[in-house]
Amino acid sequence: MATPNIALVKYWGRKSVPGLNLPYNSSVSITLHEDALNTKTSVAFDPSLKNDLVYIDGKAQNTRSGDEKVQSMMNIIGEMRALAGMRDRAIIVSRNTFPSGSGLASSAAGAAALITALNSALSLNLNNRDLSILARRISGSACRSMFGGFVKWRKGARKDGRDSYAEQIAPPDHWRLLDIIGISSVSRKKVSSSTGHIITPRTSVLYNSRPRFSEGNAEGVIKAILEKDFERLAEITMRDSNNMHATMLDGWPPIRYMDDRGWSVAEAVMDANERFGKNIIAYTFDAGPNPHLITMPKYKKEAEDILRDVLGDRSRIIVSRIGDGPRRVGNEYRLIDGSSHPIL
Ligand code: PMV
Repeated sequence: MATPNIALVKYWGRKSVPGLNLPYNSSVSITLHEDALNTKTSVAFDPSLKNDLVYIDGKAQNTRSGDEKVQSMMNIIGEMRALAGMRDRAIIVSRNTFPSGSGLASSAAGAAALITALNSALSLNLNNRDLSILARRISGSACRSMFGGFVKWRKGARKDGRDSYAEQIAPPDHWRLLDIIGISSVSRKKVSSSTGHIITPRTSVLYNSRPRFSEGNAEGVIKAILEKDFERLAEITMRDSNNMHATMLDGWPPIRYMDDRGWSVAEAVMDANERFGKNIIAYTFDAGPNPHLITMPKYKKEAEDILRDVLGDRSRIIVSRIGDGPRRVGNEYRLIDGSSHPIL
């Protein structure tokens, strides 16, 4: 089982080496809690299977679809199988407790859960750094979901990506922040992040200044985390999100993930911070319209009120504490039966 993460300083734009997902800047995130959102994945190897089978949320996946993330996933399954000297094909069954492809980092949680399950099913005992590199190759931001708490993904300098991995900066109980997520839309995004990561650095004029800006933001936010300086954390988080979305919009064709309701949430957060005379909430948006409000437990109500005011009383709100990272769960959660069939 693994959980999504929310980046305070974002990864957007990757170098063109295929299959490695190497970023132009380091990024920093918090890992979300399994009680709020999680992905469970079971893996079984069976000599009677002719091909690898993958089921996500009850649906059989086309493993030869040409989709980049699916391709990377199949490559990594092959590599880990070879590393263990295993010849059998695998059945992989994965279930999310939240909608996938809607900017809620389902691919990060999914990739981290898969790497964790494969490492254990194949008894590979790989170290966390190697696991994080494998997860990165499926979906860049997934490398950060391999750890709990506050996490940094070092961009690295090597062409082969061996020094581009995630590590924990502080454990979950270092600072009890919350991520309060407003589910504004669950429809699939029009432009995948895989496509966006290529379009934006290639075509956006503004992107030229992003790697330096974000590298500074990563350093700044780590300092803010270590010193529990919310004022600073909030400003960096909001500005890094704004900067990422500005470069997306500046590229060609333009990519727009934030919608008008998202901007209304951002404005309401700025108003609340002004009313309080200090930053009590930070907004941040990933590759989707759903606002993430980062705050401290004592301002939970203020953050929820903003989401309800803008998104409506009936909108779903998910409150997540900081999580512990991936773990092996008991057999009661097994998603594959004794004859290698998915339990759907
Ligand atoms: O890992 P990907 O390819 O799903 O890209 C994720 C990009 C953002 O969520 C927008 C930012 C981030 O760092 O998580």
